[in-house]
Amino acid sequence: MTWAIVPAAGRGSRFGGATPKQYLPLAGRSVIEHSLRAVLDHPDVDGVMVALAQDDGAWPGWREIGGKPVLTCVGGGERADSVLAAVQALPATISEDQWLLVHDAARPCLHRQDLARLLAEGREDAVGALLAAPVRDTLKRADDRQHCLGTEPRESLWRALTPQLFRRGSLERALAAAQRSGIKVTDEAMAIERLGLKPRLVEGRDDNLKITTPADLALAEFILSRAIG
Ligand code: CTP
Ligand code: MG
Repeated sequence: MTWAIVPAAGRGSRFGGATPKQYLPLAGRSVIEHSLRAVLDHPDVDGVMVALAQDDGAWPGWREIGGKPVLTCVGGGERADSVLAAVQALPATISEDQWLLVHDAARPCLHRQDLARLLAEGREDAVGALLAAPVRDTLKRADDRQHCLGTEPRESLWRALTPQLFRRGSLERALAAAQRSGIKVTDEAMAIERLGLKPRLVEGRDDNLKITTPADLALAEFILSRAIG
């Protein structure tokens, strides 16, 4: 049994506007509906727990999508708090050993082949895995006045994407430890790494973008308009 966790409790402050970005229309559906359908599309994903803001007025109240259960809980102040709340809200029938797939509500362009590869390769790994894309730009280190101090080698650098796949027990322990320490972890893998473990990077497509600014929404519209399959 594999469940998905979708953190959707963010306010979209960089995007701006009254409606949080995950509820904006995109290619005939909302952003979050694309993200939910993308993870639930895989036959091994049995259901999803969505973390919502306490005062969320835009959630459409889905109880199921494609015959799979959609549960909700209240998220927290940071993304990692929302993910931890969602893990803790899962039914007790989902055991410590079971895999959880964490996917941002704001990533509507997840490709089904990437999800299939992550599930296949990640479940082979003792720790777990995440989709990631190699860094393609030349990287500069800058001083505080924005002058180049040097060029960083990019060969071993990757951009972390979602979904990320970890076992329920280790993910909960890792996120709870990070929360107790007060350190801000920006993805699940970072919390797992802090326990001394090494999640596997599964190369994913560059176009699995996270909607952050209005320009990203236009780009996502274009990506989704091309054949997916
Ligand atoms: N998220 C969440 N709980 C939070 C913060 C973020 O569940 N306290 C979710 C967002 O809804 C989003 C994902 O985590 O699906 C990635 O976060 P991000 O892109 O940073 O979204 P926001 O936090 O909403 O945007 P911003 O940082 O610009 O305010
Ligand atoms: Mg944020």
